[in-house]
Amino acid sequence: MTKKYRVVQWATGVVGSAALRGIVRHPKLELAGVKVYSDDKAGRDAGEIAGIDATGVTATKDVDEIIALAPDCILYCPLPWSLEEMCRLLEAGIHVITPCPYWFPFVQNPDVAKALSESCQRGGVNFHASGCNPGGIAERFPLTFTGWCNRIDRITMTECGDCRTYSSEGVMRELMNLGKTPEEADRNVLKEMLAKSWYEPIDMIAAGLGSEVVEYSAHHDYILANQDIETAVGIVKKDTIALNHYRHIGKTREGTEIVQEQIWYLDDLEQTRLQKKMDIPRASGWRIKLEGDVNLNVDVDFPPELTQDERVAQGLSTTGFHLVNAVPLVCEAEGPGMKTYLDLPMITGCMGEHVVAR
Ligand SMILES: NC(=O)c1ccc[n+]([C@@H]2O[C@H](COP(=O)([O-])OP(=O)(O)OC[C@H]3O[C@@H](n4cnc5c(N)ncnc54)[C@H](OP(=O)(O)O)[C@@H]3O)[C@@H](O)[C@H]2O)c1
Repeated sequence: MTKKYRVVQWATGVVGSAALRGIVRHPKLELAGVKVYSDDKAGRDAGEIAGIDATGVTATKDVDEIIALAPDCILYCPLPWSLEEMCRLLEAGIHVITPCPYWFPFVQNPDVAKALSESCQRGGVNFHASGCNPGGIAERFPLTFTGWCNRIDRITMTECGDCRTYSSEGVMRELMNLGKTPEEADRNVLKEMLAKSWYEPIDMIAAGLGSEVVEYSAHHDYILANQDIETAVGIVKKDTIALNHYRHIGKTREGTEIVQEQIWYLDDLEQTRLQKKMDIPRASGWRIKLEGDVNLNVDVDFPPELTQDERVAQGLSTTGFHLVNAVPLVCEAEGPGMKTYLDLPMITGCMGEHVVAR
């Protein structure tokens, strides 16, 4: 019989709940435990929290209880995250996969890379950071397409998202700066960390191309709301930021530009709620653009019949499922150590005995 990896889901927010559903369905995984933060969720069956059938696994707030379960792997999805906690789990001999940083910290955060690597060594396990963007669009998928190219002048990854139905208060207000005044956004204590989160995948692409980044730059434009806007995390007030346009750019020593661009906003494409209009390339989705001797536009889109709620939910499910599908590969990867996409084999879905009704 194939070995089943015992997996703990750590935090059950939007991404964590998707991952939890993914663990339960994955034929090579077994749900060993669930770590939650709220009194409301502690003591409840994991299935009830994730909106699926009962699993027989009860959620707990107790970290020691989780470690005592001695799972093979933890899918670590809290907000805020803690480096110290990640290191503690690794040192307890548990592989850690996360959608939080650190995707490729070796250049931006060498101290973090050292701490994580040492904890992996002590625990004899691996660490992998994944996700949708970063963790997919920002580096994994563009790197794949560079295999079709020779000279590359520029690689641009653009994310567009009407975020009104994203129900994570922390991501929306603190990480995306939506609903802040421009002054508050500028003073955000996470500003430097956020920039590094986009430079990390830029560094990974450069490393994948056998190069390094010699010049970094960041650009931020925004548009304010011309009225109060209803969102899943409450009202975003008139005269606060309702569209952020971020661009983080790295230039390699050969001159290839690597651009991470996000357009996060709280409106439809008509933009009647914004104080001015911007040319938004698409409502929701991503474009990976390669320019050089081969020119490619790779659009990752949602089918038009999906509602905006479904687009946001499915977009965030990709983050959770990416973690889940990586579990066997991260547990089996030669280690111990940090495993980026440059180290791991191809991560695929795994349907097992799941049958689609036709
Ligand atoms: N790489 C990517 O593509 C990507 C995409 C989206 C999100 N993310 C990251 O994934 C993580 C989860 O995002 P999300 O959308 O699921 O956010 P979320 O819905 O806000 O969920 C965060 C969860 O963290 C837990 N939590 C509550 N208080 C906490 C505290 N004081 N300290 C630590 N954790 C606490 C809660 O778990 P319980 O509800 O179980 O109590 C909460 O549901 C975030 O760190 C986010 O940055 C990454």
